[in-house]
Amino acid sequence: TTLYVPNDSVAQALGADQLAAALQFHALRRGAPIRLVRNSSRGLFWQEPLLEVATPAGRVGYARVSADQVPALFEAGLLHGGAHPSCIGLVDQLDWLRRQERLTFARAGLTDPLSLDDYAEHGGWAGLRRAFELGPAGCVDEIAQSGLRGRGGAAFPAGIKWRTVADQSAAPKYVVCNADEGDSGTYSDRMAMEGDPYQLIEGMAIAAYAVGASRGYIYLRSEYPQAIAIMGQALERARQAGWLGERVAGSDLAFDIELRVGAGAYICGEESALLESLEGKRGLVRARPPLPAVRGLFGQPTLVHNVVSLATVPVIFARGAAFYADYGAGRSRGTLPIQLAGNLRTPGLVEKAFGVSLRELIEDFGGGTASGRPVKAVQIGGPLGAYLSAAQLDLPLEYETLAQHQAMVGHGGIVVFDDRADMAELARYAMHFTAIESCGKCTPCRIGAVRGRELIERMQREPGQPERAAELEALCEVMEHASLCALGGMTPYPVRSAIRLFPADFGLPRPDPA
Ligand code: NAI
Ligand code: SF4
Repeated sequence: TTLYVPNDSVAQALGADQLAAALQFHALRRGAPIRLVRNSSRGLFWQEPLLEVATPAGRVGYARVSADQVPALFEAGLLHGGAHPSCIGLVDQLDWLRRQERLTFARAGLTDPLSLDDYAEHGGWAGLRRAFELGPAGCVDEIAQSGLRGRGGAAFPAGIKWRTVADQSAAPKYVVCNADEGDSGTYSDRMAMEGDPYQLIEGMAIAAYAVGASRGYIYLRSEYPQAIAIMGQALERARQAGWLGERVAGSDLAFDIELRVGAGAYICGEESALLESLEGKRGLVRARPPLPAVRGLFGQPTLVHNVVSLATVPVIFARGAAFYADYGAGRSRGTLPIQLAGNLRTPGLVEKAFGVSLRELIEDFGGGTASGRPVKAVQIGGPLGAYLSAAQLDLPLEYETLAQHQAMVGHGGIVVFDDRADMAELARYAMHFTAIESCGKCTPCRIGAVRGRELIERMQREPGQPERAAELEALCEVMEHASLCALGGMTPYPVRSAIRLFPADFGLPRPDPA
């Protein structure tokens, strides 16, 4: 009998390793032959560790299983999918999974992340093969037609970026994967690397072939030790199997990838600071132009993409640009892996086509607040994303619509707060965060964030002074327009939205509706 216990960081933190050891131990004691696969997580975090058993009807799940429950599970006929209070039935039939549209995360939880056989059996490398058929120029057209926009947060059209790099005559060129996922409440990059590392490697190889790059780098944050271990092993195995190297898969593409570990600065997720760090320097933001696409790593043309952007490339090539572009709403094509976090009953990874409403995500998938209290605010797009109020939950998750409401999709992280949240404290935290994480290169951010924190602290101490709010707004104006990069430039988003939606939390009167 085959059993599955996830190897993902969240499952591990909740006791998956102890569960796996207990299963091996008790199976041996009972003389029951089992094959234990360490699969990746399905993304149902509140159910971890989620143990699965292969049965003729499909994989049967047992949720939140602890090591000391294992003897009782064996007694209950675990190996045949027997009944037990923790049994949640056939995992594929769970409503929470069936209502998703998993393209980038199609293999999540199904396979052993490091098994090349599993990867190939579940559609792996089909995208790369098709890329070789299309030729480099055809690949750039394909990505443009798919409508893919950068999933790191900026949503820049990938087709334009690829064409810019492809058009450069300088050599060598590089592909850099930004795996410095630092936004609060986000984890889709981590899951993609821990759960399906060959998909990222395949995506980077396709991108390299399209733009004419010979070398790739994955810049991975040190806070993700499991992703570092899995990515490192996957690169080695892919190299040995000929998917990286002098002649990738027998083609004329020469491409290899190096894994680099960042030391833990939020700003190193900004692409130019990341490139400085990769070059061995302090993570300082570079002035643009030139764009990295023209002069990036070591001064050479460089394609920089986030993990999920690159991990989405294989499915686009395997199924075709039209298939992918068929999902979505407006100018937001395809699907987004949405990461539900904060005060939710059933949080986890939900991949849906753009256009899904926030209410569906928070109430149907997230199950409402874990505390059972009303939702007060949701923050979308990381620590510098805007807050939305409970009255705005019918908005669709889609780049342009959220922008019209002074909010953003960002990297797709949604953090939910109940009615006990103090929005002045959260706004103060945004300024504090930037004061700590600022690279210090430009004044609006380096000084502005400290002054902003002080101003909000004064509003907290001495409520009822609208002139402080005007001062804060003037500061936000400067930070937004005069900062060199998005860290300083976006700090006003959470601050302004918190004041606009919840003035009472700042000791301010509600604005006159007239
Ligand atoms: P940007 O809009 O300036 O650039 C986006 C991307 O497109 C960059 O890679 C840039 O080099 C490229 N690009 C722009 N114009 C181009 C052109 N004409 N030709 C070719 N390529 C071009 O945005 P930026 O400053 O790189 O990123 C800001 C975003 O990052 C924010 O919206 C935020 O959501 C996100 N972010 C994500 C974090 C995460 O953990 N994933 C953390 C912090 C911010
Ligand atoms: Fe550095 Fe902040 Fe200026 Fe960005 S906005 S360049 S992080 S000082």
